[in-house]
Amino acid sequence: MSASAELFAIATSRLGKRFDQIMALDGLDLGVARGIIFGLLGPNGAGKSTAIKILTTLLDASGGSAQVAGFDVAKEPVEVRRRIGYVPQLLSADGALTATENLNLSARLYGLRGAERAARVRDALAFAGLDGVADKLVRTYSGGMVRRLEIAQATLHGPEVLFLDEPTSGLDPVARHTVWDRLLELRRSRGMTILITTHDMEEADVLCDELAILHRGRLAAVGSPAALKAQVGPEADLEDVFAHFSGAVMDQGGRFRDIRESRGTLQRLG
Ligand SMILES: Nc1ncnc2c1ncn2[C@@H]1O[C@H](COP(=O)(O)OP(=O)(O)OP(=O)(O)O)[C@@H](O)[C@H]1O
Ligand SMILES: [Mg+2]
Repeated sequence: MSASAELFAIATSRLGKRFDQIMALDGLDLGVARGIIFGLLGPNGAGKSTAIKILTTLLDASGGSAQVAGFDVAKEPVEVRRRIGYVPQLLSADGALTATENLNLSARLYGLRGAERAARVRDALAFAGLDGVADKLVRTYSGGMVRRLEIAQATLHGPEVLFLDEPTSGLDPVARHTVWDRLLELRRSRGMTILITTHDMEEADVLCDELAILHRGRLAAVGSPAALKAQVGPEADLEDVFAHFSGAVMDQGGRFRDIRESRGTLQRLG
């Protein structure tokens, strides 16, 4: 394992993906330290889901390279798959099955057997807070319960790196908090590295140790929520950061430094 693989759970180098005329990813360089919750932000179409699909070996890149958990996604996809969990943007649990049945399916997929499988499924139900409804059909669950089940399914095999594509979109504030709580628990108790995408700036601020903002397949900014806010201005919140790095200012062709300086000037004058 290289030195960078020891430091980084995820590393990409000039990663590119072209769909016909669209450059969905355009030379993305990203390093995600081990054991943190990392948020990938960016407007619709920025390339977030494309990046996740390449990192989870579901899609081939058209340029550059990426390592996950120390292995190359293109050259060693089986090693990568063993070490990751993935919760996709669209629902993945089967509504016609119970929570126990969904978990048993995932456990079988990961090659877990016998007493170990039963124990892992039991732990996963407790982790997801679904013990009491384990034998009810998932289609009767609330959105938050389904998401917690999906997180439990994706982590049954104890992955090093967990990818979640918009895990809380469409959830009410209480359900959203129960999902955050489960992700914080995975980081705390298992030292898991977690990469999420989100359009929710509160979620990015509260949950993530570090953020990257994608814009048209390129990295527009990277840093802790506090560092990014400080870059934009003394009063800036993450909504300002998002608008600054991915919004109209960039489309008008302004360079970051110019914008920052003019904002600073306005603030001094104002
Ligand atoms: N299979 C595909 N074929 C053609 N174009 C695609 C395909 N998948 C994605 N794209 C295009 O690539 C770009 C990036 O899409 P992607 O889904 O990665 O964005 P995203 O950041 O996840 O957006 P959202 O916030 O809406 O989920 C978009 O322009 C999209 O239309
Ligand atoms: Mg997406």
